Amino acid sequence: MTAISDEQWETLRSHAREAMTKAYAPYSKFPVGVAALVDDGRIVTGANIENASYGIGLCAECSLVSDLIMTGGGSLVAFACVDGDGNTLMPCGRCRQLLFEHSAPGMLLETLSGIKTIDEVLPDAFGPRTLRTYQESH
Ligand code: THU
Repeated sequence: MTAISDEQWETLRSHAREAMTKAYAPYSKFPVGVAALVDDGRIVTGANIENASYGIGLCAECSLVSDLIMTGGGSLVAFACVDGDGNTLMPCGRCRQLLFEHSAPGMLLETLSGIKTIDEVLPDAFGPRTLRTYQESH
């Protein structure tokens, strides 16, 4: 786990708020913005992008993961998510799984009940190691 300063959290929140202004959420009218610190010091961001076919709308975390991969990859160290008022929002269950895939060990998230690690919000996660362990023994 890499602890980050209050100032860095504020920077992440402000990037998430800026990203939120780019959301395309005409159906739910619930814009979401996210930002994360990468292990090389980059900040990546995302916003939700909905679709007339409601079920295929993309959560903000999807566009953050695309930003991560398209700008050079790496692992996420700390993550913040905000709603349309700029207040902290908890990532949905599916998005915790998306984040887990790209998380540095002990990645930190800002939650409604304080700073938590990815392992606290997605205990006993299924992930790349689960697959590797199985594949190595077969
Ligand atoms: N949403 C996100 O972008 N991320 C989350 O973690 C929670 C939900 C979006 C999806 C949808 O566009 C809107 O919020 C309402 O569910």
